[in-house]
Amino acid sequence: MNNVPLLVLLGLKMTQTDGQHLWRMKHFSKPVYCNVCQSMLLGLRKQGLCCSCCKYTVHGRCANRNPAPCTKTYVKSKKDTGVPTHDWVSGNCDSRKCDKCQKKIKSLQGLTGKHCVWCHTMRHDQCAELEPKECSCGPLRDHILPPWAIYPVIKERANNGCSVSGDDSDLNTTPDGQVLQICPVPDTHPLLVFVNPKSGGKQGERVLRKFQYLLNPRQVYNLSNGGPTPGLSFFRSLQDYRILVCGGDGTVGWILDAIDKANLAVRPPVAVLPLGTGNDLARCLRWGGGYDGEDLCRILKDIECSTEVMMDRWSVQVIADESQEEGDPVPYEIINNYFSIGVDASIAHRFHTMREKHPQKFNSRMKNKLWYFEIRDI
Ligand SMILES: *[C@@H]1O[C@H](CO)[C@@H](O)[C@H](O)[C@H]1NC(C)=O
Ligand SMILES: [Zn+2]
Ligand SMILES: [Zn+2]
Ligand SMILES: [Zn+2]
Ligand SMILES: [Zn+2]
Repeated sequence: MNNVPLLVLLGLKMTQTDGQHLWRMKHFSKPVYCNVCQSMLLGLRKQGLCCSCCKYTVHGRCANRNPAPCTKTYVKSKKDTGVPTHDWVSGNCDSRKCDKCQKKIKSLQGLTGKHCVWCHTMRHDQCAELEPKECSCGPLRDHILPPWAIYPVIKERANNGCSVSGDDSDLNTTPDGQVLQICPVPDTHPLLVFVNPKSGGKQGERVLRKFQYLLNPRQVYNLSNGGPTPGLSFFRSLQDYRILVCGGDGTVGWILDAIDKANLAVRPPVAVLPLGTGNDLARCLRWGGGYDGEDLCRILKDIECSTEVMMDRWSVQVIADESQEEGDPVPYEIINNYFSIGVDASIAHRFHTMREKHPQKFNSRMKNKLWYFEIRDI
């Protein structure tokens, strides 16, 4: 079970654990070089494995040959916090300008040039050794929770049975069981990202991977993997942060509900990246009707510049009339922008149940719309 390419093919190894790359098979349309053996990746498609977090790239066969560890997502102890340093990874710099000497990086001859996984600047190999080593976190500074803002503490249980961060999820612990804590960078608003990979077909998974690269993978949560609780409890001590929900109206409702239940001292503002079909709430809040593959950096800039608005939310109580036959169960009692009862509610509810059961049949916006016609006739 240590054959990495095989595990990737089987879809295993999908969470970031300490120092391990988050591999996926990738198709490259331009020449790339292996970070382990330094020779070119050959073949017409899916030539090798690429890490979603740091873009470290290898031949399938080289993934088993002790590649350098993945980027550190936190520092070793509290005294190392607040020291911003670039974290360079070789490759992926073809014909880009060096941040230090301003000359072009030519990577035709092999694995040359380095890029910083936090600020995404590029330098020649020899320029990466030079000052300044201090990392600014680049254009996404306001959103990034850099490794120098996260440190581990020994897990202690208070008498009331609560752990330090109030969370037992292994997503926020180190392999030896220490709990990760956040010590935020002043004047930033770290973004807590929740992605519903089932929304919008393949779009959800792509967005998840891209955010794992653009931000710290520790601030990006896959909702299919433990829901919103691990993310909310990791961020709960922060005073100033934002949440981004990537999914449909149902996903937004789920997160708002989880925020209610988490009893947070500060209620963070929530932005929406609408995926899939049901995005009326996102539309009302002017996040658009559906994500179509636009540049995520631009969307992150929009979030940084957005204004907060207060939103009414309603609690609805459904009291069954004894003389009537029983209908579908009531899925939510908190209403965010509208609700419906009767035939259309029943269709929407069946659509939801069916999609939960057969997610593979709901992988495009058009198909989903057709499903509404189909279900209407059942
Ligand atoms: C999200 O988590 C689920 C459940 O663990 C997993 O099957 C899926 O592959 C994950 N998706 C990504 C893109 O990591
Ligand atoms: Zn190789
Ligand atoms: Zn990596
Ligand atoms: Zn940097
Ligand atoms: Zn240079």
